[in-house]
Amino acid sequence: MATAVSAAVSLPSSKPTSSLPSKTSVLFLEKLSFNKVPFYLRNVSTGWRLVSIRAQITTEAPVKVEKISRKQEEGIVVNKFRPKEPYVGRCLLNTKITGDDAPGETWHMVFSTEGEIPYREGQSIGIIADGVDANGKPHKLRLYSIASSALGDFGDSKTVSLCVKRVVYTNDKGEVVKGVCSNFLCDLKPGAEVKITGPVGKEMLMPKDPNATIVMLGTGTGIAPFRGFLWRMFFEKHEDYKFNGLAWLFLGVPTKSSLLYKEEFEKMKEKCPEKFRLDFAVSREETNEKGEKMYIQTRMAQYAEELWDLFKKDNTFVYICGLKGMEKGIDDIMTSLAAKDGIEWAEYKKQMKKGEQWNVEVY
Ligand SMILES: Cc1cc2nc3c(=O)[nH]c(=O)nc-3n(C[C@H](O)[C@H](O)[C@H](O)COP(=O)(O)OP(=O)(O)OC[C@H]3O[C@@H](n4cnc5c(N)ncnc54)[C@H](O)[C@@H]3O)c2cc1C
Ligand SMILES: NC(=O)c1ccc[n+]([C@@H]2O[C@H](COP(=O)([O-])OP(=O)(O)OC[C@H]3O[C@@H](n4cnc5c(N)ncnc54)[C@H](OP(=O)(O)O)[C@@H]3O)[C@@H](O)[C@H]2O)c1
Repeated sequence: MATAVSAAVSLPSSKPTSSLPSKTSVLFLEKLSFNKVPFYLRNVSTGWRLVSIRAQITTEAPVKVEKISRKQEEGIVVNKFRPKEPYVGRCLLNTKITGDDAPGETWHMVFSTEGEIPYREGQSIGIIADGVDANGKPHKLRLYSIASSALGDFGDSKTVSLCVKRVVYTNDKGEVVKGVCSNFLCDLKPGAEVKITGPVGKEMLMPKDPNATIVMLGTGTGIAPFRGFLWRMFFEKHEDYKFNGLAWLFLGVPTKSSLLYKEEFEKMKEKCPEKFRLDFAVSREETNEKGEKMYIQTRMAQYAEELWDLFKKDNTFVYICGLKGMEKGIDDIMTSLAAKDGIEWAEYKKQMKKGEQWNVEVY
């Protein structure tokens, strides 16, 4: 059971409107094919080895082993509310959290749930905007990553929060087009009703291991699930969970005025400096020593060796959330690092995925 929250909602001051051992001995079973050799062994210190084995043939039916998740998946609720019968909550608060000079607007909003939407950190909800589409049909739902911990911003498990970027763009005809749902949400006034579906999603659930290293890589509103993680880790007290590992957040935004939840994260760092590392990548205002744009992967490259050492641990869990294109840049830096150890990153990442250590939700 969860208990008290030790921090009030703190929004930025911008104008509101199995444990395998480490490096030397890690040996994972990579790929075992009974009818054809080769059999690969991944040994982190020596790289890939090709080993010949004799094929084994058995006539017994294979035992079905139920997969036990390393993430906080037990008892999880999905799709309690569906589009035909959504939960109707109310907007309790809606605040712009980007500065006036930021490119684009991002809003933080809190909805009442009366405890009816039992979500976990890392899940998403669906929102159905009021009104109808061009065919006179109700709008389709849009998904949004939940930006609060399971306890919610008020600590009573009766709210859910989102972090939403207002989508506005100019189409081929030169017309300004406003995204349906993001504009509906960013314009919501306190007291207004909002149709909610879900909760959904298991990819971004936190690891069970309270001693895990959790590396969070977010761009823009991709910060949402990580705010939930970090509140649970650093702002709340839980009888059954005390975070004792290392949390490392990398957040990429275009300008300093677009940094999301900066004050909250800095407070966490002040509270637990030994357990929390925080790095921003401000793409339009910072560059690296080569003068290249500071993207999240550019910032990560500055800690490349350290990150690679962490990625080699069996209790490191990596989470990526935000822009679709961001994973490629991260792959690029990891490819060269892994190669130094004679490891092929694509294969290594596949194994991390299998172990639920590489978790991606991008759009
Ligand atoms: C799992 C998941 C989690 C998500 N979490 C979040 C979140 O936490 N916060 C958040 O803000 N969003 C999040 N999104 C995105 C969100 O679901 C919506 O897609 C987004 O808000 C846009 O919806 P809309 O109704 O405002 O726009 P729509 O009316 O659906 O219009 C969007 C469409 O407009 C077009 N378009 C958009 N920009 C341009 C452009 N520059 N040029 C040309 N065409 C363009 C594209 O076709 C795009 O599909 C998430 C998506 C997923 C899948
Ligand atoms: N779970 C999900 O799937 C989920 C959750 C939340 C949000 N989202 C999506 O994530 C996106 C976030 O958008 P946003 O508007 O909130 O972000 P934003 O404020 O525009 O910030 C995005 C940052 O990423 C940088 N960037 C652009 N291309 C990149 C690349 N290839 N690699 C690394 N960084 C890159 C941008 O730099 P420049 O602009 O300077 O090039 C900017 O600094 C949206 O598409 C949103 O729908 C998805």
